[in-house]
Amino acid sequence: MFYNAAEPIFRSENLMYLVKVVLLLAILPSFAIAAFSVDKQSFGKTDDGKEVFLYTLKNAHGMEVVISTFGGDVMSIKVPDKAGKIADVTLAFDNVADYEKPGPYFGAIVGRYANRIANGSFKLDGKEYHVPQNDGPNALHGGNKGFDKRVWDAKQSSDASGQHLHLHYLSKDGEEGFPGNLNVDVTYTLNDKNELELHYVATTDKDTVLNLSNHTYFNLKGQGQGNILDHKIMINADRFTPVDATLIPTGVLQPVEGTPFDFRKLTVIGARIDDDNEQLKLAHGYDHNWVLNGGGKVRLAAKVVEPTTGRVLEVLTDQPGLQFYTGNFLNGSAKGKGSVYNKRDGFCLETQHFPDSPNHPNFPTTELKAGEKFQSTTIFRFTTEK
Ligand code: GLA
Repeated sequence: MFYNAAEPIFRSENLMYLVKVVLLLAILPSFAIAAFSVDKQSFGKTDDGKEVFLYTLKNAHGMEVVISTFGGDVMSIKVPDKAGKIADVTLAFDNVADYEKPGPYFGAIVGRYANRIANGSFKLDGKEYHVPQNDGPNALHGGNKGFDKRVWDAKQSSDASGQHLHLHYLSKDGEEGFPGNLNVDVTYTLNDKNELELHYVATTDKDTVLNLSNHTYFNLKGQGQGNILDHKIMINADRFTPVDATLIPTGVLQPVEGTPFDFRKLTVIGARIDDDNEQLKLAHGYDHNWVLNGGGKVRLAAKVVEPTTGRVLEVLTDQPGLQFYTGNFLNGSAKGKGSVYNKRDGFCLETQHFPDSPNHPNFPTTELKAGEKFQSTTIFRFTTEK
């Protein structure tokens, strides 16, 4: 009932109405805060007793992203399809213990040196460094306990540009054999354009090498919905870096023209993956670095289209390379979210510097000098097509 000025104000209905209005005014701000604040939950503890948290970023279109403080892992990305149906398009484990084992790096921030360093050794400022050889003869993704196996400090915030999760990790001088105290900040931002942006910043107090990436496995049909072979991909690259038998680049920048590595036009991932091609055989599919066209600024690196759901993922980055990996090493032993992950059930688009750059003077440098600031941006943009 509306307040009628002709009636005495203290009539009981009027009083009730006033009470309701006052209560509503008191509650409204907390709804507004809930809508803009980042939701935080415990994900349990690491083996050595550190508590791990999950943060949920949300936007106005029903898109939701969950990030873990363990490895900065992207745990889920929920996005609509062309009919508005939401599905989780990322592969993940259900508990911290599974992430602590050597594994597929589901969703992780990888570093200090993402991808491989041949024989786990490199020279920097005339000195030879040795880092753990955790992938046959080579170092992979920062060693036995890379950034993917560390608990990051987290702070949340939100503003007109979206909801943010700020992660920080200090990688101490000598950790996993790398020189220099390295402060790493990774900010995840979810905005209302259905973009998940990753902004990386790093500084060191001694010269070091650095290659940072994110290892999210996508399946645009929805995780657990089979393999990704019928997705289509475009990679904005005229060249790629062929590898030897241990997946170390030979140093050649080979034109993709006339090879199964030519994705300059949208092409079905599975169309040529089993071709009689030496590079595909060595990697058991695609697990290579593409030399992205253009440079220095954020530009389109790749576009993936899933025809049945109409979901589209575009990847933009300022990095020189992109590792396109088709989940060739998934073998059914990794499980999560009620799904068993088999070979090629997800793909990764790891924006990065070229693998083994410290041993290839012709590749863009991955050296970060003491006092210099490394900054980089990658955007995962989700849209749909009919
Ligand atoms: C990267 C590598 C692959 C594989 C995965 C993790 O993408 O290039 O060879 O090691 O990580 O399984």
